[in-house]
This record gives sequence, structure tokens and C-alpha cells, in this order.
Amino acid sequence: MRPGLLAGTIATVLALGCTGAPKEPQKAAPAAPQGETFTSGEYTATLPLGLQASAAYVPDNNPMSQPKIELGRKLYFDGRLSKDGTISCATCHDADKGFSDGRSTSMGVAHQTGARNAPTVMNRLFSKEQFWDGRAADLEAQALGPVQNPIEMGHTLEGMISNVKGIQGYAPEFQAAFGTPDINADRVAQAIASYERTVLAGNAPYDLFQTGDKSAMSESAVRGMSLFNDKDKANCVTCHAGFNFTDESYHNLGVGMDKPNPDWGRFGVTKQEFDKGAFKTPTLRNVTQSGPYMHDGGEASLLEVVKFYDKGGNPNKWLSKEIKPLHLTDQDRADLVAFLEALTGEVRGREKPTLP
Ligand code: HEC
Ligand code: HEC
Repeated sequence: MRPGLLAGTIATVLALGCTGAPKEPQKAAPAAPQGETFTSGEYTATLPLGLQASAAYVPDNNPMSQPKIELGRKLYFDGRLSKDGTISCATCHDADKGFSDGRSTSMGVAHQTGARNAPTVMNRLFSKEQFWDGRAADLEAQALGPVQNPIEMGHTLEGMISNVKGIQGYAPEFQAAFGTPDINADRVAQAIASYERTVLAGNAPYDLFQTGDKSAMSESAVRGMSLFNDKDKANCVTCHAGFNFTDESYHNLGVGMDKPNPDWGRFGVTKQEFDKGAFKTPTLRNVTQSGPYMHDGGEASLLEVVKFYDKGGNPNKWLSKEIKPLHLTDQDRADLVAFLEALTGEVRGREKPTLP
């Protein structure tokens, strides 16, 4: 026995006192790391670990409440908001598919397909502008879009409202949520947005690692994190910044720019030349669950996405200056994918409602 150890043993015996068999020193189990507390109106929740309450965006005129969230959850899952009764928000933003639909581009009423991939509805609490091109100012403004989109839910607002009015059981829910039983489009949008703000992903191996649990991520994921954060290496952090892994901004990576008629993305909203082919940086939380990837769903796997970045995207006149060939090794690519996988954690807001 080394002298240091012996001294330690003696010290322990002395500390315990010689009152019989030495007891195990009492060590309090370390408290499980807690998420932050988020409050909006009368609603309070503990966020999954890693999410920042100060970054939440809820418009002043739509504070959250439990009855409003529960009403929104029902409307979100209710196909009767669509023209033919078959398509709900959950059809394309499915809790079992990472709140996306597993398709390259979405399919709506009468099996019509659109031009863009369905982004996840997770962690919308932290984003103001919605859609790949940011054309909706907030979730409230976004929610009525798909209802009226001819190839999504294919309905009119009047038609949708008269459907909801025709369903016994909704009026008391509107009463509980808004104080009167009136059913109108603004209220439908406000309730759905309130529910969406409870769909959250966090508490991933990455978050546990950040609290000091160094066993939470594999060595490969730890190497991937260094590459991700190194501006001279993979440079991902420049755009996928902060706890939600997005700068909430728009960039041209050249996705789809090699097609004859490219989707001009953000340009369609701002008409600014530099916005041509630019799309909103998506969150990377739980990204393993929501493939295929990119606004056109053109990349089948996370490894394909990493290869796309490695080759420097698709060069075009408007390519972001942050996108250039990365010269990654096969190991680097695998490490980046391992890091992306470590961003998948607990999902809140998945519970399906009983419809009225
Ligand atoms: C037919 C499939 C389909 C249906 C139904 C649908 N969506 Fe979407 N959703 C999409 C697609 C595709 C996009 C991306 C469109 C774009 O960016 O131009 C999208 C975008 C969104 C976004 C933006 C997310 C982000 O990251 O910017 C939200 C939020 C959303 N939908 C919520 C809803 C809600 C709420 C409903 C029901 C009222 C709904 N969706 C119905 C396919 C669908
Ligand atoms: C210049 C900003 C920028 C940089 C740098 C960047 N990204 Fe992205 N990322 C985006 C944008 C914008 C999109 C969506 C692009 C589109 O669809 O046109 C995206 C999409 C993705 C997606 C697909 C997510 C989904 O839901 O479809 C993944 C995964 C991803 N990036 C990972 C990475 C990784 C890993 C790196 C580093 C190798 C990286 N990104 C570097 C801006 C960036």
C-alpha cells in the first residue's frame, strides 16, 4: 500500500470514529440536471434540459394556457379541418416521424405533392418567422396557410370554420380557452400555435455532456463536436448556432440550384438579389428523426448531408461565403454524423388527443 493511501485510510477511520464496523461515507446522489422554467401567461413548464427559456417567443396577444394548448392539440390532429376530411397538420408533421412526414416533399389532399420538404414542428417556441423562406411572421400567421393551400388541406377558411362549428364538443373547448364559445379563424390559429409551442426536443446526450457528464457522448461524437464548432474545420456552428442549432437566418448552400428551375427561397419574400436560393437554417435537434433532409428533401441521410457540405455545396452565383470544400476524412464525416446523432433526446408534446 502506498503511504498516501494508508494515510487516507487512517483519516477515514478517524473521521468515522471507532464505533464498530466502518460505514460507507454518506454521499448524496447528484441531483439530475434540471431544465429551465418557462412561463407564458398562466402556463408554466419545465423545459427539457438544454433549452433556454429566455429565447422563447410568444406574441403578447396570445399568452399560453392549458385549455388553449389542449384545444390546439385537438385541432392539430383533426382531419376535419381539411376539405375532404383526410388531412390534418399531423399528417405531414407526424409525432412518430420527428414531426415531419418522412417524405422528400409532402403529399396533401387528393394525393397531390408539393415542392418542399415538411420541416419539423419541434422547438418552434424558439423561432419567430416560419417556413423555409420565413414568409409567415409567426406560428399564428403560419397555421392558416396549410388549411387554404390547394395541395395541402385544400379548404377555405369559411369552410374550415363551418366544419369545426359543426362538430359538437368544440364550443365548450373554445369557451375554456378564450372565455367565450365563438369559433373563428384567429382563435383556431392561436390555439394551434399554443399547442405547437409545447412540442419540444431537448435533454439529449449533448445536453447531459454539457452539464459535465462526460460519458454521455461517444468519443466519436466528441470529435464530431470539435469539428462542428471549429470555424477552420467543418464550420457548422457559424449557422447552426446556439442551443437550438440555428441562427434563424437565411443562406444559400446551393441546394437545388443545379436544377433547371430552382426554388428561389427567401428571394420570393424579400425580392433582394442576395436572397436568391437562400433558405432558413433548420434546427438540428432530433434531426435523426426527420429525414429526408434539406428544403427539397434531396438528401436521404445525415451522411449524405455531410458529404454535400464536404464538397462545398452546389456552387452558384449566390453561394454563401461560409460554404466551401471541407476536405474531411471518412473518420471526420462519421464523427460529424455521430455528433448530430447525439442531439436526439426527449420529445415533449407527442400525446395524441381524443377528438370531440
Ligand atoms: C400536406 C402536408 C402538410 C400539411 C397538411 C401541413 N403542413 Fe406544415 N408544412 C408542410 C411543408 C411542405 C412545409 C414547408 C413549406 C414551405 O416552407 O414553404 C410546412 C411548414 C410548416 C411550418 C414551418 C416550420 C418551420 O421550421 O419554419 C409549421 C410550423 C407548420 N408547417 C405547421 C403546420 C400546421 C399547424 C398545419 C395544420 C394547420 C400544417 N403544418 C399542415 C407540409 C404540411
Ligand atoms: C452558411 C450556413 C450553414 C453552414 C455553414 C452549415 N449549415 Fe447546415 N443548413 C443551413 C441551411 C440554410 C440549411 C437548409 C438549406 C436548404 O434546404 O436549402 C441547412 C440544413 C442542414 C441539415 C438538414 C436539416 C433538415 O432538417 O433538413 C443538416 C443535417 C445540416 N444542415 C447540418 C450541417 C452540418 C453538419 C454543417 C457543417 C458541416 C452545416 N450544416 C453547416 C445552413 C448552414
